[in-house]
Amino acid sequence: MTNNNIVWHHAVITPSHREALNGHKGFVMWFTGLSGAGKSTLAHVVEERLYHVGCRTFVFDGDNVRHGLCSDLGFSAEDRSENIRRIGEMVKLFTEAGIIAMTAFISPYIKDRDWVRSLAGKDKFIEIYCDSSLAVCESRDTKGLYVKARKGEIAEFTGISSPYEPPVNPELHLKTDETSLEECVEIVIKYLSDRKFIANVKTLDNSP
Ligand code: ADX
Repeated sequence: MTNNNIVWHHAVITPSHREALNGHKGFVMWFTGLSGAGKSTLAHVVEERLYHVGCRTFVFDGDNVRHGLCSDLGFSAEDRSENIRRIGEMVKLFTEAGIIAMTAFISPYIKDRDWVRSLAGKDKFIEIYCDSSLAVCESRDTKGLYVKARKGEIAEFTGISSPYEPPVNPELHLKTDETSLEECVEIVIKYLSDRKFIANVKTLDNSP
């Protein structure tokens, strides 16, 4: 719904001013994959690494956001799209604020991820496919949800009774069921460094 009585206010301090202040631009690292594929774990360790080189970051986690901003949403295709739409709008604001926004949502639909990509803007969206087989995710079952889904106690569970559409051309494709967490972190950091999203990564100190 559009409201003709709302007028866009143009700020004096722009994203380029914040980029100059922070030493990096704001952008999105969009981790996608099945529940249990390691999106959240990876995002948080990458965040730790970035913190130690002075980057401003924030991780948006599926389960956490669904306790607040998206607590009214379920897991139908429509609700998942709305979930991603709200998160997309939110991360766009964060990138304009100069933050490196990292998201860990299943985000099972290509069209929703592509929508966020176009919203975030060119060169500001890094899609990271956390590719772990359903068998491995199910065997880990850290939250016990796959067992419930198999018993039919949870409806529309991704990978079991609801689809997951893998990215066609992600910036990074990580085989999280075959690659160690440390190696995955290195791949992400190298990508950011090689493409000049961040600088000075060699001075990293891994302690929290
Ligand atoms: S998304 O599909 O809309 O992107 P989101 O990442 O926010 O999903 O939430 C996924 C998390 O919700 C899972 O990691 C899991 O803990 C929990 N969950 C609860 N019910 C379901 C379901 N039906 N399908 C997938 N995840 C579910």
